[in-house]
Amino acid sequence: MADDPSDAPAVHLDLVDAPGRGPGPERDRELLGPDERARADRMPPSVREVWIRSRALLRTTVAPYLGCAAPEVRLARDGRGRPVLPDAPAVHVSLAHTAGCCAVAVSTAGPVGVDVERVRPLSLPDGLARRLLTPGELAEWDGVEAAERTRWLLRRWTWKEALLKAEGTGLRGGLHSFDLGWTPAGPWVRSARHRSRRWWVAEVPAGPLHVAAVARDRGMRTAS
Ligand SMILES: CC(C)(COP(=O)(O)OP(=O)(O)OC[C@H]1O[C@@H](n2cnc3c(N)ncnc32)[C@H](O)[C@@H]1OP(=O)(O)O)[C@@H](O)C(=O)NCCC(=O)NCCS
Repeated sequence: MADDPSDAPAVHLDLVDAPGRGPGPERDRELLGPDERARADRMPPSVREVWIRSRALLRTTVAPYLGCAAPEVRLARDGRGRPVLPDAPAVHVSLAHTAGCCAVAVSTAGPVGVDVERVRPLSLPDGLARRLLTPGELAEWDGVEAAERTRWLLRRWTWKEALLKAEGTGLRGGLHSFDLGWTPAGPWVRSARHRSRRWWVAEVPAGPLHVAAVARDRGMRTAS
């Protein structure tokens, strides 16, 4: 899906379920600020460890870009919820978490978005597909083999959510507001809102239990 791999964002994926991965929740927690620790303490245990890992991973990943130690990385959100680094506005970050896995993307070349989903049974895949997909994408969905449908839909979900995170809108940007597909020549994004921009979208290898994708806004299209 990438039309220029040379400016691919760095993506760090951590499978939290995997034995021996990461330094462990207590060491990770030490990297967090007081507000983040308080937020973590309010979370159900089922999501807390992955969330703490995502913050620790983000801090350790971006610390070299800032030239500071991981606990000193200041992290904030913009008005729409996108994570930002107030001390390094040219370093763009994105993060995602799901059961057993978190992902962090870093880009110095433009806004970036990452998403990861656990591959899990979907109780009403057709209903989810209608919620997620445009009419054009639904036509594609109709042709997907029954055995492939769950993974297909979760993959498509990650592409779309990664793009909406790169855009900075999150889901408010509208999952139905664009068609997304790819050709060997590069990503194919069709919508009035996105037409003027160039997008880079790629899948991230995430093992058998997860699917993940990263997207980057490559700036305005130039007339050709
Ligand atoms: C941002 C959003 C796409 C996250 O999706 P999710 O599957 O629940 O969670 P993920 O783990 O994939 O991603 C969560 C991370 O996305 C990031 N994020 C939040 N808003 C963002 C935005 N506008 N742009 C980019 N990234 C964003 C945050 O870092 C968040 O993690 P954090 O809370 O630990 O900081 C989604 O929750 C959203 O759009 N929320 C905004 C509220 C909204 O629109 N609600 C109406 C739904 S129709």
